[in-house]
Amino acid sequence: MDSSRACILLADDDRRIQQLVGITLDGDDFQLCYAKDGRDAIKVAREVQPDVVLLDYQMPELSGVEVCRALRAESATEQTAIVMLTGQGGDALRDSAYAAGVDDFLTKPFSPLALEQKIRAMLARKPRSKAAARGWQAPTEMQTPGVENSTTPAGHMTRAQLMLYASDLNQSMRQLRRAHAELRTSYLSTIEALATALELRDTATQGHCSRVTRYTLAAARHMGCEPDELEQIQWGSLLHDVGKIGVPDAVLLKPAPLLPSEWQLMLQHPELGYDMLRTIPFLSQALAIVRFHHERFDGGGYPLGIAGQAIPFGARLFAVADTVDAITVDRPYRAARSWDFARDEVARSRGTQFDPVITVAYLEIFDRLSARQEGEDSE
Ligand SMILES: [Fe+2]
Repeated sequence: MDSSRACILLADDDRRIQQLVGITLDGDDFQLCYAKDGRDAIKVAREVQPDVVLLDYQMPELSGVEVCRALRAESATEQTAIVMLTGQGGDALRDSAYAAGVDDFLTKPFSPLALEQKIRAMLARKPRSKAAARGWQAPTEMQTPGVENSTTPAGHMTRAQLMLYASDLNQSMRQLRRAHAELRTSYLSTIEALATALELRDTATQGHCSRVTRYTLAAARHMGCEPDELEQIQWGSLLHDVGKIGVPDAVLLKPAPLLPSEWQLMLQHPELGYDMLRTIPFLSQALAIVRFHHERFDGGGYPLGIAGQAIPFGARLFAVADTVDAITVDRPYRAARSWDFARDEVARSRGTQFDPVITVAYLEIFDRLSARQEGEDSE
């Protein structure tokens, strides 16, 4: 037996129940063994000394209550957690089972989530004491919503059991989708916090990240990008200048033109940002914007001087938005220019600084970008 996994003995003569429980408990935490009837259950329990016994009430040879009594009489299994599986209700049955030493019940058909929860509760409890066994308090059994626990006829048991499995699968998938959405939200919050940290340091660029992200996303949607791609474009746009965190204040915040040596430091920010984030798996595509947002379509940009389609699509898309914002917002060294001026500048740079196809896409939505931005400025 693998000591790192909890050993669960299932004593049930129904092969289909064995298979379903096997599927439910398959994984790293549990090791399952089986007994086909009451006598077999006592024999296997003696051999493997399980952590939990799942004991069917109705079995050939010996009933679950008789097996329980036998297990409690042996020193190897007197402390073992025993859960009785039963399709029949009734206080008399429960009283006799508790008197025999059963710890808890699970009524067939049972939900797989309830089964696992019950087993984990058994594993987490303190070892059973003889005193506790004598003054036994019957625990409250978990009920499965929407299922009559005590009256399901045996002939319909497997179908009802399967329906519960399907229902639990559906519930698990809904929880998974919810967790996925929450994870995405926390990713975005983290990324926005990083972008804000940079803008707090360099107050001249306040609002820049959110504006360029908005322009880039608008162009990406206009070009028909899929949701997954839009998400990576959004993250990359928010983070594009994160490498500036590694540029010294004396250079980043200098209120005068930079010296050539200072420019050399500033030109490192795409690679610095890439180095900061490249080990984060969920940013793998967004990183292309961080690293290549200063490349030019004609190959005259930095850091690598790559050209044309060699520049990742997101970076080519973002480059236009970055320039538009640089033109239309006040900078320490010059006042903002008009949106008409920006449109002419973008059109003039088609095929040189910018991808020609992407340039056309921006020009098609330019009125929308400027109208939205001017609306925000006047608020
Ligand atoms: Fe940049």
